[in-house]
Amino acid sequence: MKLVSGIRRIGLRNASQGFAQAAMLALLQKVFGFNTWHSKSAFHLKPYKRAVVGQVNALQPSTILEVGCGLGDILSRLDARGLYGLDVEPAVVRAASFLHPTLHLSVSSLAECYERCNDWGLSEIDVLLMVNWPHTLPTHELLFELRCLTKSINVRRIVMDVIRQEASGYRFKHSADQLARIGKVSVLATQIDPVRDLVLVAVDPSC
Ligand SMILES: C[S@@+](CC[C@H](N)C(=O)[O-])C[C@H]1O[C@@H](n2cnc3c(N)ncnc32)[C@H](O)[C@@H]1O
Repeated sequence: MKLVSGIRRIGLRNASQGFAQAAMLALLQKVFGFNTWHSKSAFHLKPYKRAVVGQVNALQPSTILEVGCGLGDILSRLDARGLYGLDVEPAVVRAASFLHPTLHLSVSSLAECYERCNDWGLSEIDVLLMVNWPHTLPTHELLFELRCLTKSINVRRIVMDVIRQEASGYRFKHSADQLARIGKVSVLATQIDPVRDLVLVAVDPSC
């Protein structure tokens, strides 16, 4: 029944494409050994990923850095002159590099972002993208790391998901008021899935 309601929610076409992708990713998972979340969460099985791609492409960004890019499912579908991705999990970065050899990818956390940007010669990031992991960081830590980054490199806009207050099972829910400490916050899309909204922060370096 759960399977049937899931297919109904995402549509038969997405479900069939998603299951085919998931089968291919399950094989890749055996080779690279990355976290199984990635093989179970193929692009067509997760409607939020399509919503993020649509919203970010509509911003017509020049350079995008996705922190926590996983297999590059979202990043590889974005249109920009420069596409950069970081993830803390070495196995998933190896697999993403295999799947998308033209992306610039590196094993790093948000806290190490500045060093990687230097390695790449990136002095400006138009859109810093973070999806489906900022809820693992306490708000004060997330803001601290973002502030350190935006004080050392020119980050124009941040696009990230925020978990809705009514959703259960998520440790940290960052509110628009809290994010306003680093810039002007606007909602790009509500309920890109049952638990999350997508917001844009126009970074104010003086904050
Ligand atoms: C649930 S996955 C989402 C992947 C991708 N954003 C997507 O939506 O398809 C979360 C990813 O974020 C990475 N991650 C978690 N904390 C991170 C951090 N502090 N810095 C960089 N990557 C992080 C994890 O290794 C994992 O690959």
